[in-house]
Amino acid sequence: MDPINCRIVKWNEIEDWTRTIASRIDESGYEADVCIGMTRGGWVPSRLICDRLGIKDLHAIKTEHWGITATKDGEAKLAHPLTIDIEHKNVLIIDDITDTGQSLKLAVDHTKAKGANNVISATLLHITHSKITPDYYAVEVPANDWAWFIFPWNFNEDIQSLIRKTLDDGEREYGEIVELLKKHCRIDIDADVIKGTLLELAKREEIERSGEKWTKKKD
Ligand code: ADE
Repeated sequence: MDPINCRIVKWNEIEDWTRTIASRIDESGYEADVCIGMTRGGWVPSRLICDRLGIKDLHAIKTEHWGITATKDGEAKLAHPLTIDIEHKNVLIIDDITDTGQSLKLAVDHTKAKGANNVISATLLHITHSKITPDYYAVEVPANDWAWFIFPWNFNEDIQSLIRKTLDDGEREYGEIVELLKKHCRIDIDADVIKGTLLELAKREEIERSGEKWTKKKD
């Protein structure tokens, strides 16, 4: 498989980035009546930013992608639109990352169409090829430095998905899987963490265990 440029994001980075965004919004003087966290990546960042800005009204919009972990494509569609009245309100929409930018653009357009007074958006990371630039973001990622960011709230899901991609054929021991993830995904994960993840995957029957060796089941 082609290597995937992955990066594990740490909680202290989330803490720094949400603090940066909240102070910039605060300094701008924008007073949001309502915050909307994009489901699912925007939930933790939006809750932290609401806490810092004293926003009590937090809601969600869900978009879904026709894609899987660590792919650059994927069409977004609105899965759960807004169910609250936001007419004449100042809205702040938050997500973890703008990559294609489809999700955030859908959410911003939808919120404006529902009659909001002002709509601003913020993401922790912004990849420069995105079709929309959020009003606030903490880190700009040049498009040619694209990476799949493994956020702490998505760690298990992403690692399982990457292991599924990485395990090709034949039996593998834990140590080999650690090396495969280093080589193919540029991430260094402890064998113990991988073991826990594989046990969960085995329960869902995608991976077979025999002794300390693992094999991806044939479709
Ligand atoms: N969601 C969409 N693009 C992403 C990326 N590059 N990293 C993590 N999550 C994403």
